[in-house]
Amino acid sequence: MSTMPTSPDAVQALNAPLLSATAYRKIEREVGKFPADQKQSAVMAALAIAQDEIGWVSQAVIDDVARVLAMTPIAVWEVASFYNMYATSQPGTFKVGICTCLPCALRDGEKAASYLKAKLGIDFGETTPDGRITLVQTECLGACGDAPVLLVNNKRMCSFMSVQKLDALVDELKNT
Ligand code: FES
Repeated sequence: MSTMPTSPDAVQALNAPLLSATAYRKIEREVGKFPADQKQSAVMAALAIAQDEIGWVSQAVIDDVARVLAMTPIAVWEVASFYNMYATSQPGTFKVGICTCLPCALRDGEKAASYLKAKLGIDFGETTPDGRITLVQTECLGACGDAPVLLVNNKRMCSFMSVQKLDALVDELKNT
């Protein structure tokens, strides 16, 4: 059973915008790219903007994007849960997605994934005990010729990931 907030801070927290003014401006700019009655077409961009700011697509993000785009939360959730660039559970500081699709798998993608799992002591979908690195499997990242490839926090592409480069990356992410 939910309880009503009792302190002014708690009431303020409930009424405070989830995202920054900058993030809402970015979303409005995306909305402006579509006809006025098609705001929902900006849902993927809105989710990405919100995720960049909050770190993952929480229920609060789903509800807020739904509110801004006049969609139902379930319609937003259907998009967020379909594409693996959206983290629908809270990841570590760094989300490392490694491609193990067939072209990459044939060029050491699977070996690189196994090496990372052993080095980090986690499986796909898990986070290191220090909360630094979450390891996930991705679909094709569009860089099959650069295998093994991985993507850090949905933005930084790392190519030709030899054992030496994997070691250096893990060191960097653990100590940044
Ligand atoms: Fe891995 Fe395309 S199959 S990047």
